[in-house]
Amino acid sequence: MAKIPEYTIEKIKDSNDIVDLVSSYLPLKKKGANYWARCPFHDEKTASFSVSPSKQIFHCFGCGVGGNVINFVMEYEKLSFIESVKLLAERANIPLDHQEASPREKSDTGKLREMHVRAIEIYHRELFSPNGKKAMEYLNSRGISKQTVQTFKVGFAPDSWDFLVSKLSEDHSTELILKSGLCVQSQKDNRLFDRFRGRIMFPVMDERGNAVGFGGRTLPGGKDDAKYLNSPETPIYNKRRILYGLNVNQEIIRKEKKALVVEGYMDLLQLYQHGFINVVAGSGTAFTGDHARLLRRFADEAVLCYDSDEAGQKAAVRTAFTLASQKLDCRILKLPEGEDPDSYLQNEGADAFFKREANALPMMEFLREYYQPSSMSPRDKAETIAYLLEEIRAFPDPVYRETFAREIATLFSVEESTLLQQLNRRAYRRPASGKAVFSGEKPKHFKNQGEAAEYYLLQLLVNGSVLIRKAGLRYLSPVLFRHAFLRKVLEGVLPVLQKDPGIPAGQIPDRIGDNKIRNFVIQLLIEAQNSLNQETIFVESLRQLELQVLREKYNALTEELKKADPSEVPGIMKKQIENLEARKRLKLLYTPEIFKEIDA
Ligand code: UTP
Ligand code: MN
Repeated sequence: MAKIPEYTIEKIKDSNDIVDLVSSYLPLKKKGANYWARCPFHDEKTASFSVSPSKQIFHCFGCGVGGNVINFVMEYEKLSFIESVKLLAERANIPLDHQEASPREKSDTGKLREMHVRAIEIYHRELFSPNGKKAMEYLNSRGISKQTVQTFKVGFAPDSWDFLVSKLSEDHSTELILKSGLCVQSQKDNRLFDRFRGRIMFPVMDERGNAVGFGGRTLPGGKDDAKYLNSPETPIYNKRRILYGLNVNQEIIRKEKKALVVEGYMDLLQLYQHGFINVVAGSGTAFTGDHARLLRRFADEAVLCYDSDEAGQKAAVRTAFTLASQKLDCRILKLPEGEDPDSYLQNEGADAFFKREANALPMMEFLREYYQPSSMSPRDKAETIAYLLEEIRAFPDPVYRETFAREIATLFSVEESTLLQQLNRRAYRRPASGKAVFSGEKPKHFKNQGEAAEYYLLQLLVNGSVLIRKAGLRYLSPVLFRHAFLRKVLEGVLPVLQKDPGIPAGQIPDRIGDNKIRNFVIQLLIEAQNSLNQETIFVESLRQLELQVLREKYNALTEELKKADPSEVPGIMKKQIENLEARKRLKLLYTPEIFKEIDA
């Protein structure tokens, strides 16, 4: 493939606003000059992921990732550079006149997704072939229409050991096929065989429609292994972050701001068919905080509709708290004994379900019905409350935590203060943050003034005016820096500015090869306040640096004194006095006057 010219890449970057792009993936909140969110790249309870609209970069103070729009797409979508540029070009309607990325340029992610698209087609076609007759009949007997089968690309994996692998291995390496989770390797002779055999196949896609995995259901009369077999976790399938159905249903969910949440594939298809198209399901895993966060991007409210059996209701309690922890309002729809949404719809129809939905219980009322606190023994009450407090403790927002604790107190008729005490007694403790100051952590604890000065100078260099940068080029040198990592950063930044002192701040990271240094520069950029007294800070910091050097020299002289011959003492002491005088002169040497000699 032809290389994409630099100017086209620049144009693509310019045409994709970073705030716009990132907020299509996660909710951003404006605070000060920047936007903030909880970082999508590591688990965290508070927002340390930040996006700067003016510099068009993002940075996470927690895990240190950062960069421009292309870096974000690479990181989030796990795509190669070229693939990410293509995605952004499409997003901005910029035509690229070259073909598909060549196989070599494609990331594993790209290839694995492609492999899944292929598998979906193969299985789907098979369902409509004579081989798939029984499976199709079964789906029909469960009331699933051809139209629904088409919409969700349901397929069939015949009972064969190599139906899929024989086709995939035409284009893909054994290693990659294994990575996809679609096939398994035989212990005996290392041969690959199909993971899914004799099963109805439900393709699982992420919210943007990328194929990531499958759930496979046995046919009645099939071998008696698990009813559902699911794809394992793979580089493209993170079960905690995938909601089945969201790729198809997100528009309506976004519009209604409300989603139905069910447990199973069949429930979802049945609801969909009955016109309840704002529905999602966890895909073979419990509902996680990540799921809730994902859903929160589309909805304000969730209506839980789980099986009416004990296991289903218990799961509903947990899921309700998980949803609430991410500030989704949550109601619970109750079905009669022995029913799940699928069976209920088939037995009672859409109208009946609609009424149930309208009467879905707010969370606390559901809990009242489920636990029946008025007839609970003190012991059960204590245990239940302890469990519920455990759930609440995981809420990131303390206000939510407290509000829910109060409501639970009311529910179980205990004093609020008792519960709040208990809630705080084993309060959630933050992990100790004893990590290195300058490896992507907030640079708030400087060891000494010199270190702080080095930090601020770097910040001014990348973020400052051309005048400041030119002064930096003249006065700053790596030998002045004492902090090893900050010195490296300076060594990385200076050549970039030498080439082009007027370079827009947001573009500096792109010119830096070393990842750690690059991320650190991004952090500097995000942190920077456009302060008015840049020049004063610059000279003050510069003086600190020089002071640091002089102090070291002084200390070295003191050491020398200790070992010195009596005859050498006066000479050394004279040097020390000169050193002290030099320190005083620094005040006169470094004033904002220095900027007068620099032409910007
Ligand atoms: P259900 O047992 O309720 O299945 O499990 P279902 O979707 O209603 O399917 P039918 O009606 O029996 O055909 C709910 C969900 O739990 C996961 C699947 O995602 C399923 O859709 N599950 C269930 C598994 O992952 N493995 C299993 O063995 C069973
Ligand atoms: Mn079912």
